[in-house]
Amino acid sequence: MPSSLMDDLRFQPTWVLLLCSLGLFTLTRSFISLLRWVYSYFLRPPKQLIDYGSWAVVTGPTSGIGRAMAFELARKGLNLVLVSRNPDKLGEVSEAIWGVSPTTKIKIVVFDLSVDVKGGIFRLKGAIEGLDVGVLVNNAGVATPSAVFFHEVDVDAWVRMIKVNLESLTEIARVVLPGMLQRRRGAVVNIGSGSTVVMPSFPLYAVYAATKAYVAQLSKSLYHEYKDKGIDVQCQVPLFVATKMVSGLTEAKRRSVFVPSSSEYAQAAIRWIGHDALCMPNFIHFLQWWIASLVPEFIHDKLRLRVNLRQREIIKRLRTEARNAATHN
Ligand SMILES: NC(=O)c1ccc[n+]([C@@H]2O[C@H](COP(=O)([O-])OP(=O)(O)OC[C@H]3O[C@@H](n4cnc5c(N)ncnc54)[C@H](OP(=O)(O)O)[C@@H]3O)[C@@H](O)[C@H]2O)c1
Repeated sequence: MPSSLMDDLRFQPTWVLLLCSLGLFTLTRSFISLLRWVYSYFLRPPKQLIDYGSWAVVTGPTSGIGRAMAFELARKGLNLVLVSRNPDKLGEVSEAIWGVSPTTKIKIVVFDLSVDVKGGIFRLKGAIEGLDVGVLVNNAGVATPSAVFFHEVDVDAWVRMIKVNLESLTEIARVVLPGMLQRRRGAVVNIGSGSTVVMPSFPLYAVYAATKAYVAQLSKSLYHEYKDKGIDVQCQVPLFVATKMVSGLTEAKRRSVFVPSSSEYAQAAIRWIGHDALCMPNFIHFLQWWIASLVPEFIHDKLRLRVNLRQREIIKRLRTEARNAATHN
């Protein structure tokens, strides 16, 4: 430091020195965060997923993010246990994966995560017995009923959502973990949502957002429980991805600069497995998160309510149109 600057500082009152130190500390912290982001998103080498084990379990692989993740895992050389409710769709996705990766071994487990959780868990347990399962992608999730006031939701629909997003996800992790513990290696990826990590509130999707807050908290706690046992537990939080789940919602209907396709999401997601307890793998999502963090909470709350009320109107209109079309046919 030039001596004149040192002299200037020496003769400043204490409060000025304190403010300068605080400013320097904040700047250094921001700079370190920036370096960390650049490293994590662009420079950090991905983990070799095959080192966790030769099989991956993926729930909800018949469309959207789960399907794209299954393809990426097969490309990385992992065999797959595909878990979903529709055997025809499971067959179709298996054929499609063999089209690009003919040597991948695939087992399918038909399991409706919203109905018979006990039975489904029993079948999954049987299917993975003796397999070297290294990766679990707990992806299946539902956001329906969509854009409804809390008092309007049919209780059965809630229960189904809670069973898929929360109960089944937890039980599936519970079934896969013991094998990983025995081998002292494994990665568990639970798919959460930006609706709880980025948004301070998510009105008209209260139960969905609450289930995803559970997923984030469960994952963060398990991360610390199992880190020193060789198992990396992680919650990934996507913002909008162009999938079937959001096809009824205006702002995320199609892929755009702000809404990645499921393949784009999955390519980024795979690179993050094993790093951090909670992460937002897609860089464009991350930029949106960062911008959102600058906006005061009360503005988020107002805007989100307004956006979701608009969605409610659109969904209502689409339903009426579909009903009318059905009566005319
Ligand atoms: N897309 C987004 O913008 C977004 C944003 C944040 C978080 N997420 C989360 O990402 C995950 C994947 O969402 P996505 O957008 O890819 O949705 P998606 O395209 O609707 O796919 C959901 C998958 O879950 C399966 N599934 C749904 N209910 C099931 C049940 N009862 N039993 C068994 N399988 C069931 C579906 O099977 P079927 O093919 O039989 O329906 C499908 O394979 C979800 O956890 C979601 O909450 C998505």
